[in-house]
Amino acid sequence: MSNEAPIGIFDSGVGGLTVAREIFELLPSENVIYFGDVGRTPYGGRSKEIIKEFTRQDIAFLMEHKVKFIICACNSASSVALIDLKSDYEVEMIGVIEPGAKAAVERTKNGRIGIIGTHATVGSNAYARCVHELNPDLKVFSLACPLFVPLVEEGYVDKEATYLIAQDYLRTMKDVEIDTLVLGCTHYPLLKDVLADIMGDSVTLIDSGEETAREVYRLLSKSELINPGMSQSPVLEGEHQYFVSDVPDKFAQVATRFLGRMVDRITRVDISRY
Ligand code: DGL
Repeated sequence: MSNEAPIGIFDSGVGGLTVAREIFELLPSENVIYFGDVGRTPYGGRSKEIIKEFTRQDIAFLMEHKVKFIICACNSASSVALIDLKSDYEVEMIGVIEPGAKAAVERTKNGRIGIIGTHATVGSNAYARCVHELNPDLKVFSLACPLFVPLVEEGYVDKEATYLIAQDYLRTMKDVEIDTLVLGCTHYPLLKDVLADIMGDSVTLIDSGEETAREVYRLLSKSELINPGMSQSPVLEGEHQYFVSDVPDKFAQVATRFLGRMVDRITRVDISRY
């Protein structure tokens, strides 16, 4: 496996760019191929069987690009599909669940952890399982907040309506007195300010994407697969390519907000071929 080979990142759509953003920051020399399944997004309300089939196709697409490592940025796909599919491939793959759960276990002090995500993620119990594998004594409270995804995609991150919806969703989390809240969905990091404000200073927010990027750094270093551009001075910037399963226009628009800059090189692919 070559060190110059790209890292593949996939997601149900644009949300995985919050994970890509962390990778760009931590591993600026890596070449990255991002696939966003915008034509079939969202995954979060779909059945396990459908998510699994979509995930298989997303991985097959990235494999065709000879990637050295695959990141499943989508919490819903990581929760219900990745564990079953991972062993079919030789390329190392990581989802966002384990890194997020591990960080929550390390940071909680009162042993009460909240998880928020899509229906698929919450229904799978994947985060709770991971937390309990690490420490069976911890209490986990999970809650689906499906309205957050469309709100974030429409740019409703600092609107009163979003604040009121978040307040309503999180009431039960406040009641159970968690001290750690895992943002178990790609879109939620964009709502960090609102969520932090509602939960208050006593609650630590865990960004699964950020934790995943750290874990990717660790795993690539361990396998000696870091791009050599990282050791040049100044570091060599990697190439970023984007692929989507429908017209790229909306992806380009939302991506600018997610990444804080314009993206070019977006190519449409027919994912049903895979
Ligand atoms: N990417 C999804 C996740 O992290 C959110 C959007 C969707 O439901 O597809 O669960």
